[in-house]
Amino acid sequence: MTGDLLDFRAALLGWYGENARDLPWRRTRDAYVVWVSEIMLQQTRVAAVLEYFDRFLKVFPTMEALAEAEEDAVLAQWSGLGYYRRARMMHKAAKVVVSEYGGRMPETAAALRELPGIGEYTAAAVASISFGEAAPVVDGNVERVLLRMYGPELLEASGKAAAKIFRETAGTLLDSQRPGEFNQAMMELGATVCTPKGPVCMVCPVRTHCRTQGEHATGPAKPMRSRRVGYVLMVKGRGAKMEVLLQQRGNRESQMPGMWELPGVPEGLPDAAVLMTVRHAITNTNYYVTVYALDAVKRRALKGDAERMQWVRVPELEGFALTGLARKVLKRAEVL
Ligand code: ADE
Repeated sequence: MTGDLLDFRAALLGWYGENARDLPWRRTRDAYVVWVSEIMLQQTRVAAVLEYFDRFLKVFPTMEALAEAEEDAVLAQWSGLGYYRRARMMHKAAKVVVSEYGGRMPETAAALRELPGIGEYTAAAVASISFGEAAPVVDGNVERVLLRMYGPELLEASGKAAAKIFRETAGTLLDSQRPGEFNQAMMELGATVCTPKGPVCMVCPVRTHCRTQGEHATGPAKPMRSRRVGYVLMVKGRGAKMEVLLQQRGNRESQMPGMWELPGVPEGLPDAAVLMTVRHAITNTNYYVTVYALDAVKRRALKGDAERMQWVRVPELEGFALTGLARKVLKRAEVL
């Protein structure tokens, strides 16, 4: 088994060295930068993160800059990435790192885990990539790789929780000499070769270690829910003076509290032209969105809380924590 293990590590790391995608967060071991990337990459595609990562670091280049920022400014940079709790927790954690650690990220997985928003996954990723700690990383990609390598028996009969089995198995495989590269190689393999559908086993560097060598059986996909919602796009003025009416979500909303969106209207609003229809997916809900154009004069027709509404100049929208849907609609309407 030991020879087998050494062979597995060598094959995987060799493949990673040749085939790793050149991603901006892989050009540094700086813990602040690695942390930002790992938080952004949770539940989010690499292509989407690429659009945000550089800009975020330009605006908040250091732990101190992030800690000193207003929460709204942090959310504005996150607008469209989704799962905004990640941004709020990161902001909180930055404050803790500055006040309790002099602005330097703690260097062990155990200490990292004490910070807001840092769980097992992020702690292991930062500790291994930035500080060389032999902490195994387990994300969805790694789970799938392990399940295919060992087959469904991996999770059966031991009586242990699946998360514990995955962590222990990843820990056994882990190359403690090069834990950061090894962890990233496992994730990269899952993301680019050992994909959920149509894994490319032909090019897999560790194919000979795999029991499944193809797709594995999965449970039924979670059904998507559908919801219909209506918003209104109201603009006034022209050119650089153009303004758009926004509404701020309440601070107690369970989703996206305090963020800015278009004012809501009942669906099928009479006397209003349909401007566009948009589908927008948030976790397991598809929102079928009708956007109405409404004359500024008819503002009174809106329901909603006038105190939470505000006309915003288009050039100022960049500084607003817009919801992803509001951003999408404003882009399609060529306001943004
Ligand atoms: N997914 C999330 N973080 C990653 C990393 N550091 N390397 C590869 N895939 C990842």
